Amino acid sequence: MPPKKTKSKVTKKISKKTTSKISKENQKVKKSDFYELMEKSFVFDNTPDIELVKKGQYKQAFELLEDAEACQLTPILIGPPGTGKTLLARSFASSRKKNFEWMTLDESTKPGHFVGAFDPGETLKRGFIKESFLPGSLTEMMVTGGIFLANELNRATEYTQNTFLEPLEERSIMLPRLGRIRAHDDFFLMCAANPGDMAGTHRLSEALKDRIKIWIKLDYPSRSVEMEIIHANIPQTKLSKDYIDLTYNLIDATRKSREIERPASIRSAIAITKLAAKKQLKKKLDINEFKKIAGLVLIGGLKPRPGFQSEQIVKKIINTVVK
Ligand SMILES: Nc1ncnc2c1ncn2[C@@H]1O[C@H](COP(=O)(O)OP(=O)(O)O)[C@@H](O)[C@H]1O
Ligand SMILES: [Mg+2]
Repeated sequence: MPPKKTKSKVTKKISKKTTSKISKENQKVKKSDFYELMEKSFVFDNTPDIELVKKGQYKQAFELLEDAEACQLTPILIGPPGTGKTLLARSFASSRKKNFEWMTLDESTKPGHFVGAFDPGETLKRGFIKESFLPGSLTEMMVTGGIFLANELNRATEYTQNTFLEPLEERSIMLPRLGRIRAHDDFFLMCAANPGDMAGTHRLSEALKDRIKIWIKLDYPSRSVEMEIIHANIPQTKLSKDYIDLTYNLIDATRKSREIERPASIRSAIAITKLAAKKQLKKKLDINEFKKIAGLVLIGGLKPRPGFQSEQIVKKIINTVVK
C-alpha cells in the first residue's frame, strides 16, 4: 500500500496548483492579490443567475411589465417577501437589452445615494461643475435611457421616497447646483415593495401612490409553479421527489397556519431541499434527518403572531406534515 500523504503535503500541492495567489502559511489572500481578484469580481451584467420560471402569475406579471414600459407607466410589484418580485423585475430588465441598475432601499437610504453627489476632492480642485459630480444609478439610467428598479421602495423614509416624484411625474430630476435634467425617452422606472401592513415598512407616500400607475400583485405561487421554482433553483441536485413534495407541504402548511404572521417563503423551500440533497448525496438522509433540516430552516424562516413561539409552531407543523 502506498504511504498515506500527510495533510500538509496535500494542501501544499493544491495551493501550488490552483491557489497560488493564496499564501501557504495562513491561507489568507495577500493585499495585492486581493485587488486582482476584486477586478475580476466586478459585475457588468445584471442578469440574474437564476432563470425566472415564467409561468402562472409570473407570466402575467411579465406581460404587464412589457405593457407598462411600452406606455411609459411606472409599475410596482407588490407581494410578501420571497414571492419573486426582485427576480421578476431583474429578469424583465435584463431581457430589454438596455442599461439596468437597481437599488434596495431602506431607512438609511438618502436621495444622494441614487441621485449622486459631488466628489469632495474634485469639487475642491475644480468647483461645482458637472465633471465633479458622481452620478447615482438613478441619474445614470435617466441620462442613458436605462431601467432603474427601486427595490423595497416602502422601506425608505417618506423623504427619500418623495425624490422619485419628479422622475415619475415629469421624467426629470433636479441635480443640486447643476440644474434640472430631462430623462432620455427610453428611461423606465420600476418599483417593488412588500405589502404596507408588514412590520419594518413605511407607508408609501400618498403623493407617490398617486403617480405609480400599475399595481402588480404577486402572491405565493400555485403548487405546480412553486414546485417548478424549487427544481429550477436546485438544478444540479437530485433530491427524491418525495422529499421535494414534503418540503412543499411544509411550506404550504406555514401559509395556512393562523399562528403565523409571515409564513415561510420559497427561499426556505430552496434551503431545505439544498441541505437535504447534500445529506442524500452523503447517504445520510432519512425521515428524521429531513425533519431536523426542516426545523433548522423554518425556525427563522417564519414570523409567529404575538403570543406564539416559533419553535413550537415549527415542531407542530413538522410532526403533522412529515409522518
Ligand atoms: N418565478 C421564479 N422563478 C425562479 N426562481 C424564483 C421565482 N420566484 C422566486 N424564485 C426564487 O426565490 C428567491 C426569492 O425571490 P425574490 O425575487 O428575491 O423575492 P422577493 O423580492 O419577492 O422577496 C429567488 O432568488 C429565486 O431563487
Ligand atoms: Mg426582493
